Amino acid sequence: MSQEESLSVFQAAIKNFLGPISEFLADDTISEVMINGPSEIFIERKGKIHKTEAHFRDEDALRAAVNNIAQSVGRRVDDSEPRLDARLPDGSRICAVIPPCSLVGTVVAIRKFSKTKMTFKDYLKFGSITAEAAQFLDISMYLGKNILVSGGTGSGKTTLLSLLCGRIPRGQRIIVIEDSSELDIDYDHLVRFETRMADQMGQGEVSIRDLLRSSLRLRPDRIIVGEVRGAEALELINAMNTGHKGCLGTVHANSPNDALVRLEALALGADGKVSERALQYQIASAIDLVIQISRLSDGSRRIVTISEVLGFEPSGAYNVLPVYHMERMQRGVDGRIIGNAEPTGHIPSFMGEIINHKIPFGPEKFEKKAS
Ligand SMILES: Nc1ncnc2c1ncn2[C@@H]1O[C@H](COP(=O)(O)OP(=O)(O)OP(=O)(O)O)[C@@H](O)[C@H]1O
Ligand SMILES: [Mg+2]
Repeated sequence: MSQEESLSVFQAAIKNFLGPISEFLADDTISEVMINGPSEIFIERKGKIHKTEAHFRDEDALRAAVNNIAQSVGRRVDDSEPRLDARLPDGSRICAVIPPCSLVGTVVAIRKFSKTKMTFKDYLKFGSITAEAAQFLDISMYLGKNILVSGGTGSGKTTLLSLLCGRIPRGQRIIVIEDSSELDIDYDHLVRFETRMADQMGQGEVSIRDLLRSSLRLRPDRIIVGEVRGAEALELINAMNTGHKGCLGTVHANSPNDALVRLEALALGADGKVSERALQYQIASAIDLVIQISRLSDGSRRIVTISEVLGFEPSGAYNVLPVYHMERMQRGVDGRIIGNAEPTGHIPSFMGEIINHKIPFGPEKFEKKAS
């Protein structure tokens, strides 16, 4: 199906089958629609989740809607394929699970594609990061640091990764690998890969790991992995350790240290023969920075820590030091949480590189502010 054809099938599916949620899909202030069976529909607006009055007539009507959406992306949802994970023709992302795997009827989450591209300026405006910390990330991108973006589900990892990609100096060759294409990257020398699921006979699967292997032979300057969640972790670590600077990826974890441990667990799950200790040293030398992002209880998304990975201690722990950290979470009178990740006093080990490149960002920038 051509792009136009799938868009028109999708629009027809919205009109004919998605009546109960069409107003939410059209409303730009709503970022996510969550359907838990025919009679329970939630939305996310400004980072907060609200229950709506909307509902589908019955399970059959909801299932018909999901099947029609699936059709617009050349997929189907039925007993043999009870899960759908796809990007819709308008750029939104859909995930659905049907009974019997789901016990509450058909479950769907639609992460709407934002028509307005988020910029670093918006990021500052939303209070997700301070201007100085943003400048530090910019410098780290310029210097080709290997960076992991870590956070919980829906915390804003993909959005931040897109923003970081936009800061890659021009003139490089970027290869992006994703499960379903989501990253919104504006760059002139960009190669994008998407994985493929196995067919009904269990054949033809192309994984992130396979694509990462191919990427290494395609002369990348930067490799970006949308979400590291499997055996590809091992190849990514190897790539970072064999001279591929400026690789980026996201990982689901609750702290920079947890992100490294998660990467380790994923890499150990690969069929490599590397020992746990060797892997820990490799991870510590591969990753330069971990950015921890979080959705706070006031609905805002904020960078809470930017940590530098300095090594692996013989005692058996990663040496991870925060360069910026949000220490206090205070609520303002309007209910919003005040505060940002601020300098901790740790001067990054690559300060010499910042000076050598004559970047006007001196060591005093990392001084801890008096509280
Ligand atoms: N800094 C921010 N301020 C406000 N909204 C944001 C911010 N970052 C992301 N968002 C919004 O939060 C939602 C989730 O963002 P995103 O898809 O980047 O999260 P994620 O961590 O990648 O999610 P997942 O774990 O599902 O992959 C999106 O609607 C996005 O527009
Ligand atoms: Mg994501």
